[in-house]
Amino acid sequence: MVHQYRNHPIRGLYLLYELITVLSFRLPYWIWRNLFRSRRPRSSWSLKKAVAVELVKRTWLISIRQADHTRVTQDPDVKHVWLNPTPDLLNSKLRAYAAKANVVPASIPGYWFDKKGVDTPIGARPRPGERVIYTLHGGAYFRYSASPKDSPANIARGLLKHCPGVDRLFAVEYRLSRAAPEDIAANAFPAALLDAIAGYTYLVETVGFSPKDIIIEGDSAGGNLALVLTRYLVENVGLVAGLPAPPGALLLLSPWTNVSLGLPPPGSRTAANFNADYLTIPDGGDYALRAFLGPHDHLDPYISPGSTDPRMPPVSFEGFPPTFVNAGGAELLIDEILVLVERMKNDLGEKVTYYEAPDAVHDYTQFLWAEPERTNTLQEIAKWVKDV
Ligand SMILES: *[C@@H]1O[C@H](CO)[C@@H](O)[C@H](O)[C@H]1NC(C)=O
Repeated sequence: MVHQYRNHPIRGLYLLYELITVLSFRLPYWIWRNLFRSRRPRSSWSLKKAVAVELVKRTWLISIRQADHTRVTQDPDVKHVWLNPTPDLLNSKLRAYAAKANVVPASIPGYWFDKKGVDTPIGARPRPGERVIYTLHGGAYFRYSASPKDSPANIARGLLKHCPGVDRLFAVEYRLSRAAPEDIAANAFPAALLDAIAGYTYLVETVGFSPKDIIIEGDSAGGNLALVLTRYLVENVGLVAGLPAPPGALLLLSPWTNVSLGLPPPGSRTAANFNADYLTIPDGGDYALRAFLGPHDHLDPYISPGSTDPRMPPVSFEGFPPTFVNAGGAELLIDEILVLVERMKNDLGEKVTYYEAPDAVHDYTQFLWAEPERTNTLQEIAKWVKDV
């Protein structure tokens, strides 16, 4: 819809226009529309929450933040490290995906986050038994960043605050995808996967974490990336020399598992959430799809492990670590997340934990206004981390 303004010279003017219309016209309208509880998308929502969702919906469509993986956030509080590409860790299948999309391994930065009150030097060797969260941010593979200054950092800080025994977290600035004609097409699949492999290898080989002490975590598109990273490690451990073993645990927050604009049938839970969630189909999705898929077909276990398309090859989760998956009861991705959970439970049984926050929107743990569901979920995750 309005992505074309993202890099446009008149972007500043456009944003000013947005700001003025939101304040003078949209905000009062949103308040009026949601004034009565019965008229809100979910009657459990407060007026503040209903208006916050409207605002996110608007900014989601016009959002312009795109990380630049060739630069780092310069700030005295921000700890970064540059990662070496790991071309030797790609098997022939992954090389073929990369060649098809014209993607090569690249050097990218990563950020360290500390628990409040802890100050671990960059890349310090782990204490015995120390666990770390390796986080992959969301944003449909084309927006947001790993920087502690961007909104996905709310998830990182929430996890650090609640999870026992986890004092630091590492976030990798994987390359974001772009699509023509709006942008110069770049970084389609598997660019982000190559970067995620490099970040994971840094944690194991350079910093010295044992894979069993690593929790791979991802929200939304980051959940998609966490799934394919884990899949690649599970499938190739022992086959690709130097490839680290799979992680000890996997944490998927509203993971994107069906990379298509296929509309689920009327009567599905997704259809019932059309008017509640801030995600929209296809307006918000077509750019992301073109950018991320590039020349690839989405009917691939590496890309859409939760797709129910009849042409989809079988998807196995054999060998995956214990996994926690959450979803918002009011989110657009609910059906594909449930498909993923069912498939994982078929292969992994009790090792899979599913938590659904009633009436919550997509990827709500990133929003500080999404209470009480945000804190409730972080507490559930903390319990799981303790036991897993
Ligand atoms: C996933 O996308 C396909 C189109 O490729 C669509 O037919 C199907 O309904 C979607 N499944 C779910 C669970 O969302």
